[in-house]
Amino acid sequence: MPAKNMDEIVALCKRRGFIFQSSEIYGGLQGTYDFGPLGVELKNNLKNAWWEAMVYENDNIEGLDSSILTNPLVLKYSGHEDTFSDPMVDCKSCNLRFRADQVPEHCKDEDLTEPRQFNLMFKTNVGPIEDGSNYAYLRPETAQQIFTNFKNVLDSTSKPIPFGIAQVGKAFRNEITPRNFIFRVREFEQMELEYFVMPGEDEDAHTLWVQKRVEWWDKQGVPTKSLELYDVPTEELAHYSKKTVDLMYKFPHGLEELEGIANRTDFDLGSHSKKQDELNITSKVNVNKHSNSKMAVQNESGDWVVPYVIEPSAGVERGFLAIINEAYTDEELEDGKSRIVLKLKPHLSPVKAAVIPLKKNNEDIVNTAKNIKDDLQKIGLGRIILENTGNIGKSYRKHDEIGTPLCITVDFDTLDDNSVTIRDRDTMSQKRIQISDLANYLIELVKK
Ligand code: GAP
Repeated sequence: MPAKNMDEIVALCKRRGFIFQSSEIYGGLQGTYDFGPLGVELKNNLKNAWWEAMVYENDNIEGLDSSILTNPLVLKYSGHEDTFSDPMVDCKSCNLRFRADQVPEHCKDEDLTEPRQFNLMFKTNVGPIEDGSNYAYLRPETAQQIFTNFKNVLDSTSKPIPFGIAQVGKAFRNEITPRNFIFRVREFEQMELEYFVMPGEDEDAHTLWVQKRVEWWDKQGVPTKSLELYDVPTEELAHYSKKTVDLMYKFPHGLEELEGIANRTDFDLGSHSKKQDELNITSKVNVNKHSNSKMAVQNESGDWVVPYVIEPSAGVERGFLAIINEAYTDEELEDGKSRIVLKLKPHLSPVKAAVIPLKKNNEDIVNTAKNIKDDLQKIGLGRIILENTGNIGKSYRKHDEIGTPLCITVDFDTLDDNSVTIRDRDTMSQKRIQISDLANYLIELVKK
């Protein structure tokens, strides 16, 4: 059962240390957020789950971590300098600027200027001379440096087509109106795969990736029934796309894009390639006078072919928001009380288990709990916490709220028989098990 509204999620994120407003003590910086102790864990777990599903589970997909600072020529030939813009209007009454499709109701039509295009890329000076000629862009998507590295990765790994390059990392967009918490921000992370296929194989590959991505989100706790597939109409397609399917999720503020899966054709490799006239590029690309690389492969007949590319591109922040929203549960209990519990998939939980000594000042109990924590930590499943507050009820409430799948209580009986009480987050059921069985129990719980 998702949260009732965005405020509930924002409050939980701040209260428990998932997400803070960035530069908060100086009034904040619009469109930027900081991920706190639990937020960074959940975010890393999400990115790791994506990496595992892409890179480790597919021998024909390789990883990349390219620079954020990007040579302007990359973004000239990608089309971003010319087309990566949103229409912007000024309101002469309130003196504020808005994206043309996001003007608040209180601004009257007659107060608005004609829309003009506003490029969303952040520019920054490179080196010590600030005369405006030495600049770079902060990448607006991670994709472009995947394309520019196409030959490097291909040559160094000797992969036949189809093969893919996966990247997770920051992207920056000077959004005119950042809004809805972490949904639309100016600094965010993307998880992008560029999957290169031979022309003619692109449509089937596109269909397959749409299906794979829906299945993957289901495993992260965003059920298939909560997603709508939006076949982007031709007039709304990005300049590079032949077909795009957006995975739409009902965020607390409305139905919006979580991930886009685009068929980018041979536009990108074709645009970044030298000797374009020797290649049979099907999409409309600008003449490239600067590239020193031929972005093509030879087919069985020895002809040079520019591969097509299928791109599943997901936002980490939007994934985070959808996952927390789905997991958020305000539950009525039998005793008339209620609890908030984050029913996260255990592999995503920021804390995998909390080890709780029954008595915070009993040395034997606390030491036993510490040893259990250390041993479970060594398995490498993620963070295990020693929760020595001396208040079991409070500890359970906290760990329900942050989504810890398992609480382990060490008490006086433990000292006699090496057993502990384990409590399941979702069912709240408790049982005794041996300390020696804990590791396997936790592995089963987190891996399933
Ligand atoms: N490389 C293709 C690309 O960047 P996009 O639809 O512009 O396509 C892909 O972005 C994903 O990145 C979106 O589906 C969304 O999840 C995320 N995203 C885009 N802009 C964002 C923003 N301002 N704030 C948070 N996430 C954003």
